[in-house]
Amino acid sequence: MVGSGLARGLDSFEGLLPEPSWAFLELTQKQTSYATHGYHRYPAKFIPQLAARLIREHSSEGNLVIDPFMGSGTTLVEAKLLRRRSIGVDINPVAHLVAQAKTQAIEPTRLTHAMEQLVERLSEHAQPSLFTGVETQSLPGNGTEWHERLRYWFSEATLCQLAQIQQAINRLESEAERTFFNCALSHTLKSVSYWHDRSVKPMRKLDKPIPDARRVFLRHAKRMAHGNREFWNLLCERDALDIPAVAYCADARQLPAEDLSASLVVTSPPYVTSYEYADLHQLSALWFGWMGDLREFREGFIGRSNGVHSLPAELGSHRAARIVAQMEAVNPRKAREVALYFGEMYDSFREMQRVLKRGGYLCIVIGNTHLCGVEVQNAQVFAEQLESLGFSLERVILREIPSKILPRTRDKTTGKFARTLDADYVAYPTEYIVVVRKRA
Ligand SMILES: C[S@@+](CC[C@H](N)C(=O)[O-])C[C@H]1O[C@@H](n2cnc3c(N)ncnc32)[C@H](O)[C@@H]1O
Repeated sequence: MVGSGLARGLDSFEGLLPEPSWAFLELTQKQTSYATHGYHRYPAKFIPQLAARLIREHSSEGNLVIDPFMGSGTTLVEAKLLRRRSIGVDINPVAHLVAQAKTQAIEPTRLTHAMEQLVERLSEHAQPSLFTGVETQSLPGNGTEWHERLRYWFSEATLCQLAQIQQAINRLESEAERTFFNCALSHTLKSVSYWHDRSVKPMRKLDKPIPDARRVFLRHAKRMAHGNREFWNLLCERDALDIPAVAYCADARQLPAEDLSASLVVTSPPYVTSYEYADLHQLSALWFGWMGDLREFREGFIGRSNGVHSLPAELGSHRAARIVAQMEAVNPRKAREVALYFGEMYDSFREMQRVLKRGGYLCIVIGNTHLCGVEVQNAQVFAEQLESLGFSLERVILREIPSKILPRTRDKTTGKFARTLDADYVAYPTEYIVVVRKRA
């Protein structure tokens, strides 16, 4: 059943003008990648200052903050800096690795020491021949046969360099340090593979000049070490080093948190059939052995466009049902994907409702999209679904998105991000921040 305060609630979307103070247009890239935020590229990352403002305005020190779609862990880092405990969840193991690395500050002199060890070990292998000095058992493909997808993306020489880096990381004693350097390695993979840098889709460019993986890796790890030092110093200044920020690789529909335990949920959910996170992170997932088969790996990702066969039991929103019906008339397959997306988001909201305290806030950052000529009003649908689950709509903010943060264009027919030249439609020039509160 859809809640009764709904008509008034949805009026909040009518005639909204962008609120300039939420655009953060004045921030430089350096400011948005301060501390550990620049560790790893991640699609549709939060601006840290936006997450921080939502946390500050809707919770207090010591409260528990949850991000059920944490991605690279922006919310968790900001919560820790603001002395809030936090839990983050993502189904993508790559997100889990990145979020773990970003939330663990390492004492800077220890990290310098670990870096020196790595530099030394990698210089021992400066002129590698295949597998020289590498303990092959601990590497992808056991060192005898690389996974065929690894061979597809990397040259033999690069695989050998990556293997040396991996082995040097595996020999580090501390788990936090291994996580830190695995994150650096994960970030390195794309630039040393045949992945076409200008393409938003997984596409090869076989004549791409490939740099030495060890050099790229060490350069990035050194940049990360500066970020770690900044994070460490900020946490020390704020007496926040011991504030827990725990990242899980799990499903947003089964949060590892007690009933009524959280004061705030801050999140930006996945979009329907837009970023295929599973596909985009396949290099890291392959390298670290998290993925055998791409089809299986995609399972569980909300918003996926592949292998959608079943329909959800409940959408929790009349508007969602209308959008699905409109889509059905033009593209039945897409209609099924959209229905599944809304159904799965509804399930995840039910779970957020379970973990939130009465009176707790839920802030969702979401844009509306076009698919097959149909406007997919994610924000309004989510507001309806949440009202039906016992939340009241507190505030809707429209914000402009600085173009440097998100890809700007989508193909109008497929809704997928497109090369700028092919695009006929500007995606997400604005997005909504929907703030709801769990009724007492
Ligand atoms: C828009 S991104 C979040 C980005 C994040 N705010 C940040 O700053 O990096 C949405 C995330 O939802 C994740 N996701 C998709 N389906 C999920 C599920 N069933 N459970 C948990 N996370 C999921 C994706 O892997 C992706 O990382």
